[in-house]
Amino acid sequence: MPYCHRSVASRPGCIMALTPSSNPQALLNAQLELWHHTFGFVKSMALKSALDLGIADAIHAHGGTATLPQIVTRIKLHESRFRYLRRLMRVLTVTGVFSVELSVNGGEHVYGLTPVSRLLVGSPNVAPFLTLILDSVFVSPFLGLGEWFQHVMPEEPSLFKAAHGQDLWDFTGRDAKFAKLFDNGMVADSDFAMDIVIKECGDVFHGITSLIDVAGGLGGATQVISKAFPDIKCSVLDLSHVVASAPTGTDVTYIAGDMFESIPSSNAVFLKWVLHDWGEAECVKILRNCKKAIPPRDAGGKPDSGKLRVSVVRQASWSRFFLPVPLHRGLMPTSRLLANSANLTPILSLMLDGVSVTPFLRLGDWFQHELPDPTLFKMTHGQNLWDFTARDTNFGMLFGDGMVADSAFAMDIVINEYGNIFNGVSSLIDVAGGLGGSRVRPSRRLGFGYNRRPNRNLEDRKNRTETSGMTERPPLSKAFPRVQCNVLDLPHVVVGAPTGTHVKYIVGDMFESIPSADVVFLKVILSN
Ligand SMILES: C[S@@+](CC[C@H](N)C(=O)[O-])C[C@H]1O[C@@H](n2cnc3c(N)ncnc32)[C@H](O)[C@@H]1O
Repeated sequence: MPYCHRSVASRPGCIMALTPSSNPQALLNAQLELWHHTFGFVKSMALKSALDLGIADAIHAHGGTATLPQIVTRIKLHESRFRYLRRLMRVLTVTGVFSVELSVNGGEHVYGLTPVSRLLVGSPNVAPFLTLILDSVFVSPFLGLGEWFQHVMPEEPSLFKAAHGQDLWDFTGRDAKFAKLFDNGMVADSDFAMDIVIKECGDVFHGITSLIDVAGGLGGATQVISKAFPDIKCSVLDLSHVVASAPTGTDVTYIAGDMFESIPSSNAVFLKWVLHDWGEAECVKILRNCKKAIPPRDAGGKPDSGKLRVSVVRQASWSRFFLPVPLHRGLMPTSRLLANSANLTPILSLMLDGVSVTPFLRLGDWFQHELPDPTLFKMTHGQNLWDFTARDTNFGMLFGDGMVADSAFAMDIVINEYGNIFNGVSSLIDVAGGLGGSRVRPSRRLGFGYNRRPNRNLEDRKNRTETSGMTERPPLSKAFPRVQCNVLDLPHVVVGAPTGTHVKYIVGDMFESIPSADVVFLKVILSN
């Protein structure tokens, strides 16, 4: 299939690229891949709560393997959460953070450390670095990434500043708690990486008599260099609030300063995790100051220092943070599901919305604290999901549209593959059925800016479904026109339901009673 840009989609050969496969298995595989990308954050959030709870330490303290009852003796956990810990451990074992030996004869599963979780205990220990990266201060800006691409920021284009109103260095300068998390995280990363650098690439330090670690934080890297090469006079340059917390009584000298102004003179300049933070112009400025800092050879500079000599130790590039994926051209089966008829964009937008994602940032807290209502959603948003969708109209619509998209996709396959289960049915009640899988034709809603949640209200929604005349009949009712299909849901959902579709929408509470019908249908209900 030739590479196909959307703007040329009407050319012969390109239409195919936008059309989802009609093979149900291929569709389900593509949907599964999208679920993997969408729920990928659950893996990071499970790891975050393992760090918050100290699960690796608990297993380590127990000799490297432990059952759940043994783990809970060593972590802070509210007793009501015990049964949920098993679920958390399931995610953490499936993702390889811990190993599990399944119980035989009803005994307890035994969890163990893996090469991955061994890095979270003892030394070297990367837990402080991961805790930093998974902190909500760093994670939450990513929820606005799509919006950031669309909006022109007045001056500073960083995603961090767009989310927090100040750049990372001002933020760390003002928030002492986050600064500590940041600096300790960087030290942990340095302890881990520099041992390997010195073992594998130690020759880059030979012949050096003095070294300045520019923007070196608390000097984690330099402390390792200084111990390995005691003849090198090592210094660290960083901002004054960082230097104020630097360790004392070591051979390393800490200097408060600004690398954009000047860098103290030294035989060699060391930069780790610095240039990636800055744009091209700033990097040129930093490197010019680095060059100025190294004296000419006859004045003691390192050979070749007339030209800035750069030794780059490659630790990782960003692409290595992700699993290798084959490079494809054009729309792949997964992205075809984000276009045209089988459009899963609304359900993915719902799952990846800040309202849905942010509760997971507090999963560790939730395990520890006693709360009257146990849901993570309520702990974060102060009300349960259904009250929230009733009160926040925008989120309510995102929710309704998301579930409709999911139903439209899944029900086509269910009807094609398992349609015979509906034979002989004359009436059906779709319990907590939302909008009943009824959808408005895509051209009206999809496309650029869909995710930006325009300030829609229920009146918009009714207009959209009633007066546009574009409502499609819900899949079940369309496939089985002789079946009287009814949908039961809460009042704020039914008020936005489409009319004129042969489906009857009934306001009610499934915990009180369910209207009588030949068949009761439940989709994505009991999971809640
Ligand atoms: C990502 S950290 C890297 C720290 C250290 N190099 C490491 O790898 O552990 C970036 C550092 O840049 C420092 N920094 C930011 N702006 C600076 C400036 N204008 N002058 C000196 N240091 C600066 C921050 O305080 C922070 O310690």
